[in-house]
Amino acid sequence: MGKREGFASSFGVLVAMAGSAVGLGNLWRFPYLVGTNGGAAFIIIYLACVLVLALPILYSEFIIGRRSQSNVFGAYKKLAPDSKWCNVGFIYVLCSITIISFYSVVGGWTIDYFVKAATFQFSSASADQLSGMFANTVTSTASPLVYMLVFLGITALIVLAGVKNGIEKYSKIMMPLLFILVIVIAIRSVTLENSYAGIEFLFKPDFSKITAQTFLDALGQAFFSLSVGSGSILTYASYVSRKENIVKLSAQTAISDTMFAIVAGVAIMPAVFAFGISPSEGPGLVFVTLPYIFNQLPFGSFLAVLFFFALFIAAITSSISMLEVIVAYLDEEFKLKRRTSIVLSLILIATLGVFCSLSQGIMSDVKILGNSIFDLFDKSSANIMLPLGGLIAVIFVGWRMKKAEYADEITSGGLVKFSKTTVGIFYFFIKYIAPVVIATIVIRSLF
Ligand code: PHE
Repeated sequence: MGKREGFASSFGVLVAMAGSAVGLGNLWRFPYLVGTNGGAAFIIIYLACVLVLALPILYSEFIIGRRSQSNVFGAYKKLAPDSKWCNVGFIYVLCSITIISFYSVVGGWTIDYFVKAATFQFSSASADQLSGMFANTVTSTASPLVYMLVFLGITALIVLAGVKNGIEKYSKIMMPLLFILVIVIAIRSVTLENSYAGIEFLFKPDFSKITAQTFLDALGQAFFSLSVGSGSILTYASYVSRKENIVKLSAQTAISDTMFAIVAGVAIMPAVFAFGISPSEGPGLVFVTLPYIFNQLPFGSFLAVLFFFALFIAAITSSISMLEVIVAYLDEEFKLKRRTSIVLSLILIATLGVFCSLSQGIMSDVKILGNSIFDLFDKSSANIMLPLGGLIAVIFVGWRMKKAEYADEITSGGLVKFSKTTVGIFYFFIKYIAPVVIATIVIRSLF
């Protein structure tokens, strides 16, 4: 996407926004967090976090980005000149670097599994064999690094080439396809023998298992999944035309993302129980369970190839939105050429990614604050940096911007009609509810 070039159509914006939101967060991270946090109760808290916290941040980032038409530093500089606000841009850049570093490792696993599917490596494997296969895949030294670099390389090429011609075209086909595939898997999953326990796990809440950590995980996952708090939405919004209805776009993004997550849960959990896999298996959950389901489906091998390809596309459309945050910042603030910004970002991300990847295998003994490097990057970004980035956005819109500016932006300068009450309700959530609740959850769980 050329600088300040902008999206061509409303549909293009939606594809890009939903593309950023829907990714490994929905199909890989959400199911395993549901598994480790006890199921239905987690999902309920997650949904509440999406509605009450993530959505107001989505609006706020949209407002800041579109109004300023600038990167994460430039935006705050333009909207709050002669203040120190622009320094918050640093948090977004840091957060994007942290996420993309471990995200590309998992992106690499999806390419690896695509290759495995295409070469029939998991046809007729047992659950134990599939567990072993996943462990081998991620703990090896060289191959995950190669796949990670391939993933990063493709991300970079797309960011270089522009979103319009490459990724938009692909996403328009692949995202609906992925959704259909996940529905097919979900249908198979709930019709497996002994899948009922999985359905209960998903829909019958047991609130006795909830701790402060559950809230923090749900909050972090809601932000991670909707891509809020990292500046991705802000940066994309800076390419959105003044005419677009940003409230509608935000709502559509949130709805598609949430639907994907729920269907992914239904696709995976019943099968997990039916196959006797432990729901708290962790990051391997999807990679172990899905190949097993494909083995139980007609044309399973073919569907597996399609699925892992579509998952890879979903991951790429998310990773480009992270890289765009960093590249737009370097381009605009340091007047670098786009190519130079991309190369510099890649060197840094790839270096960090190497450590994330090796921390699954030969560096698994290295622990920082009790976490492997991979887990540290994952948890610190989702549970601390994203909430912080989101908090900053809502505080800025609620407390620093004038209410008239906010209303002007929400209504696209009067083009989109909302009643005063609707505008007021959104504002109330942005100004009071979101900041107070986010701060409370983060502070309570940290101390
Ligand atoms: N939302 C993406 C996903 O679910 C991940 C992401 C996080 C993308 C933060 C951009 C910014 O996979």
